Amino acid sequence: MIILGIETSCDETALALIETRDHSHDPIECRVIHSLIHSQAELHSAYGGVYPNLAKREHGKNLVPLLKKLFEESGLHTKNTVDPSSLLLSSKESMLTQNPDLYETLKGADFLKNVPSIDYIAVTEGPGLEPTLWVGIVFARFLSALWNVEIIPVNHMEGHIVGSLLQSDKPLGAWQPLKKIEFPILSLLISGGHTEIVEIDSIGSYKILGQTKDDAVGEAFDKTARLLGLPYPGGPHISRLAEEAREMEITSEVKLPRPMIGSENLDFSFSGLKTAVLYAVRKAQQADRFDDTFKKGLCREFEEAVTETLNLKIKTALQLKEFRGLIIGGGVSANRHIVNAIEKTVTEYHIPLLKPSVHISGDNALMIALAGALNPKTKMPGDIRAHGNKRLF
Ligand code: KG4
Ligand code: ZN
Repeated sequence: MIILGIETSCDETALALIETRDHSHDPIECRVIHSLIHSQAELHSAYGGVYPNLAKREHGKNLVPLLKKLFEESGLHTKNTVDPSSLLLSSKESMLTQNPDLYETLKGADFLKNVPSIDYIAVTEGPGLEPTLWVGIVFARFLSALWNVEIIPVNHMEGHIVGSLLQSDKPLGAWQPLKKIEFPILSLLISGGHTEIVEIDSIGSYKILGQTKDDAVGEAFDKTARLLGLPYPGGPHISRLAEEAREMEITSEVKLPRPMIGSENLDFSFSGLKTAVLYAVRKAQQADRFDDTFKKGLCREFEEAVTETLNLKIKTALQLKEFRGLIIGGGVSANRHIVNAIEKTVTEYHIPLLKPSVHISGDNALMIALAGALNPKTKMPGDIRAHGNKRLF
């Protein structure tokens, strides 16, 4: 089964092609035919965060050229050819009002007449930014109608879960068995929009045990970075400065809170942490001490406050029942300090940690295609819509 994955939930335009094969007893095997990510981070950097309308326009401009590149570089076979002109004509009115950039690129895309040998199109339906999700969905619907291929709508967070099942050391095109997974398994999802602890009883069966009441972890990293004058996305910058602080043995004179570690539940709250950073920054500026050493120390303290909070909640969750492993996913799972702490915890509990390789810890379409392959619930194209707040269940 060959699946084309489409991801446009935030500021990455991503496309991927995977092939899976299923043997009755062994784990599913998968090969990554190709995966492309076009990041808009630099464009949004000027705004200090993602600017939804700009992101929408960029997805509209980039999807078609990215698909052309994906097909050219993957050498996929063509099944037959079709004429896109009547579909373009019937889509013209709605596309010109809602997605003019996408329409313009579709109009000039001669390569779309070649029907690729794919079985499904998996597209992110949520959660995410609704205007940007719609671009991917409208694109998927167009391709589905043109090539007569069914669509699988995918939950972005399920994508972050299954992304951890791919082996990290396999080159493009090589077959690999997916990592072994035993249920129930716990999952910690930490991204720019979400912070969730999820119980997974099988792929497709999820229960949210705890989540953030306000800011997501990645959002806290990004907002803190902004207060320190660091570029968006802030996570990698904070992490780098925190690492330097550790190497240089710089500690922070400011002690930040460890939010909600006293509460018994598995919920998080990170907005207080950002406010504490704001006060610390103001105080340092007034005292003329807002220098590199202060910033490095504060990044270290911030990273440690977040790590301790996440780790403690994971320990609490692991006591609830006999989980057979822990999956970590989402952009923040690229953070080495957090992952090292969680690795120690799973070792104490004698369970495996399944984590995505760093190049697919952030948003990508590989994880969307794989989620589509593992949980292939198709819907009629007209029923697929953007759900900005879509939950895992
Ligand atoms: O999963 P993702 O790519 O997008 C969403 O679905 O939100 O996550 C993006 C988030 C951003 O907030 C970014 O700052 C954060 O992941 N991030 C990191 C690191 N790399 C990316 N946070 C902390 N440390 C990192 N190394
Ligand atoms: Zn994400």
